Amino acid sequence: MIPRPNLVRETGGSFVLTEPAVSLDPGLPAEGYVLDVGADGVSVRGGSPAGIFYGTQTLRQLRDSGTVPGVHIEDAPRFGWRGVLLDVARHFMPVPDVLRFIDLAAFHKLNVLHLHLTDDQGWRIEIPGRPRLTSIGSRRPRTMLGARQHGLFDDRPHGGHYTDDDLRRIVAYAAERHVTVVPEIDMPGHMQAAIAAYPELGNGFTGGVRTSWGISPHVLNMQPATLDFCRQVLDHVCALFPSPLIGIGGDECPVGEWASWSDEPHTIQRRFTAEMAAHLATHGRRVLGWDEILAGGAPPDAVIAAWRGVAPIAVAAAAGHDVVACPDTSVYLDYRQSDDPGEPTPVGTLLTLADVYAFEPPPADRLLGAQANVWTEHMESARRVDYMAYPRLCAFAEVVWSAGRRDFAEFSDRLRPHLARLDALGVNYRPLSGPRPGDARPGAPGHPRNLEDRLAELHEMTADLRRV
Ligand code: ACM
Repeated sequence: MIPRPNLVRETGGSFVLTEPAVSLDPGLPAEGYVLDVGADGVSVRGGSPAGIFYGTQTLRQLRDSGTVPGVHIEDAPRFGWRGVLLDVARHFMPVPDVLRFIDLAAFHKLNVLHLHLTDDQGWRIEIPGRPRLTSIGSRRPRTMLGARQHGLFDDRPHGGHYTDDDLRRIVAYAAERHVTVVPEIDMPGHMQAAIAAYPELGNGFTGGVRTSWGISPHVLNMQPATLDFCRQVLDHVCALFPSPLIGIGGDECPVGEWASWSDEPHTIQRRFTAEMAAHLATHGRRVLGWDEILAGGAPPDAVIAAWRGVAPIAVAAAAGHDVVACPDTSVYLDYRQSDDPGEPTPVGTLLTLADVYAFEPPPADRLLGAQANVWTEHMESARRVDYMAYPRLCAFAEVVWSAGRRDFAEFSDRLRPHLARLDALGVNYRPLSGPRPGDARPGAPGHPRNLEDRLAELHEMTADLRRV
């Protein structure tokens, strides 16, 4: 079973699967459950409805042609935040594919979908009174093919956005599966699509939605009307998403366009983050931001998604923040899975299934858990997302759910029957033997990185945090 339950006792026999008797047991951990299969039938006790749900997910995996082995399982997750980020900005993903992504995540007992809704390359959510965000900001005339070093493009327009009803449907579907959707509006950088729609938000930029990868230099100005715009966007986001946390991004914000201002540029972003946090507080919500927002001090109750290596985890915790570990070199599922030349658009550092399985979030007082991130620059379809996410997300699910020692050989033995389940669910996972011929993307070349270089780069990138 994946993720591995914490206590499994085989009690003998094989029984016809019957409708489980479910009950709440407040003595159990909230997301915990006890599953029994025996002559008396099948029962699932859960510490909450989520616990019952996880017990039934385990039962789904135990079933073999309508029978289930006799078993007693006691289980509860290691972490409360078992997240996965899906980037629907770089490539729009239609609603049914998002629902399926949620279904698969929940099957693996993940409980947070961090939904990256906006970026330089696309704006995917309607905002009342701001129609150009979707009529202009959700479309681009062409898309970069492969890593930016190659300068290749297709000539196919790309676009799409979610209506309010779409997003409500996604939230409700996730909630039924005990997944919280944490929306993210990435600000004040990664905002070129919004600025293309409403140039008055920017600093003189009058171009379109970004068609290449990499980070746009075009960021929000900090005029009062721009801050009002951001507040309006967050108001609508709060109306659609009940999540107690709202992502405001904050990563990779170039300060070049602010250089002529009288203030030190990084102070400008710090003040912006504080304004947004104060506004979200009026809705009873907290900020989730990338670790860049630690520079100069983040709002006290901000939750930090630590992605630039592991160093920001300790910095965030020491500054009193709750923190989610998502270091790129361990859990960025856009990074290449092997050095096989048939891997599609190989970018980032090598991140094999075994590497993800070996990921161990460093202990920190305020560690909520961890999150795997699926950035989609190089994933143009749901099938490609499947290929990059699975089976690495199976390994990640075990890191965040299962306590105790991890043994990759033992995991691999359990993974084989699990892959048959993924086959039955139609998941286009990467075969353990390597990419199939059709998985290659010869027209979209990559740019592999080496780990030492990346770690050195991360050390440099986080130098400001060491001065916090
Ligand atoms: C990030 O990967 N820029 C959060």
